[in-house]
Amino acid sequence: MTILVTGGAGFIGSNFVLDWIRTNGEPVINLDALTYAGNLANLASLQGNNAHHFVRGSIADGETVGQLLRDNAVRAVVHFAAESHVDRSISGPAPFFETNVMGTLHLLEAVKAYVGTLDADSKAGFRFLHVSTDEVYGTLTKDEPPFAETNPYKPNSPYAASKASSDHIVRAYHETFGLNTIVTNCSNNYGPLQFPEKLIPLIIHNALKGKDLPIYGDGLQVRDWLYVGDHCSAIRRVLEAGKPGETYNIGGDNQKTNIEVVKRICALLDAKRPKADGSSYTSQITHVTDRPGHDRRYAIDARKIESELGWTPEADFDGGIEKTVDWYLNNESWTAEVTSGAYRDWIARQYA
Ligand code: NAD
Ligand code: TYD
Repeated sequence: MTILVTGGAGFIGSNFVLDWIRTNGEPVINLDALTYAGNLANLASLQGNNAHHFVRGSIADGETVGQLLRDNAVRAVVHFAAESHVDRSISGPAPFFETNVMGTLHLLEAVKAYVGTLDADSKAGFRFLHVSTDEVYGTLTKDEPPFAETNPYKPNSPYAASKASSDHIVRAYHETFGLNTIVTNCSNNYGPLQFPEKLIPLIIHNALKGKDLPIYGDGLQVRDWLYVGDHCSAIRRVLEAGKPGETYNIGGDNQKTNIEVVKRICALLDAKRPKADGSSYTSQITHVTDRPGHDRRYAIDARKIESELGWTPEADFDGGIEKTVDWYLNNESWTAEVTSGAYRDWIARQYA
């Protein structure tokens, strides 16, 4: 048996592949286009491991996908590949629709054709797990209940709109073609190997470099932080026991304002890597112009995955953020490598 993972050189995908091979051992075909967000260094520890087979290619290339599925008798696809950064979707939306919408459509077409060739048992056992986001539900006020699977879709950013479209396509392939698809919608992930354009690694990186810590607007926006290792265990569980045609929300039960998150990181760095001049990293906090269409609050109601599949997150925010800060302190060469070249150009444009 083999699974095909898309986007397995990105942040969550590479954590998932490492976790899968450690805990399960079933072979993984890892298909990734290696955009700016894909990094083979994330998978360096798997070098020489026969359970991991990396293929550089696009989900939009139906021929390659079809061949990988057939040649490896794939029994499940876990689909992470996407353009994933909201700010980039504001300054340049087109790649988000090309990859997240059309890419997912081409991938599904290749999967449908392959599944059509399987015998009845293999067809029934086949799974297509589409990894999506809570951002498809839009934004919450301070007092509204968290997002449940029954909430209407109200995406606000081009990124969220592209993910919402892909969720609908995946659903349609279940309803119309009988493909065994499952959608997961999770909250903001954090942990090792996250590209330093997203809030938490960006703040750690900028703090250590003596740069401004940019807070959009008042910094009172709320996110429900999910430790990436918990997300991986949730996906494993959904793959194992999730019901085709269903959606499962996955959250960390850790609602924090952005300013709280940034101050917590500063406090950890003050203790672990004090500044030479004795000042706190909080002195680098700078409020900058808010993101257009900025969602105020995300929060996940994860009762369905808990009651139906018995999954709950393990990490609390204090433990998860400390592990994350430690990882970045111990892996500064990883960050130095990914912050070269194209990434620097992006930072210059975004924060000019
Ligand atoms: P990421 O940007 O770190 O990684 C995306 C990966 O997809 C990269 O390795 C990239 O090279 C690859 N990719 C892009 N286009 C491709 C294509 N056409 N073909 C093959 N590979 C391609 O993203 P991430 O943060 O790891 O997110 C993974 C998935 O989880 C995404 O679908 C995202 O929408 C979803 N998600 C992420 C978060 C989060 O907090 N990071 C939260 C909810 C949902
Ligand atoms: P981000 O990591 O981009 O994830 P998302 O937009 O998908 O939630 O941002 C998390 C929160 O942090 C979001 O409210 C925007 C905010 N933010 C900043 O305040 N400053 C920054 O430099 C970045 C990248 C994000």
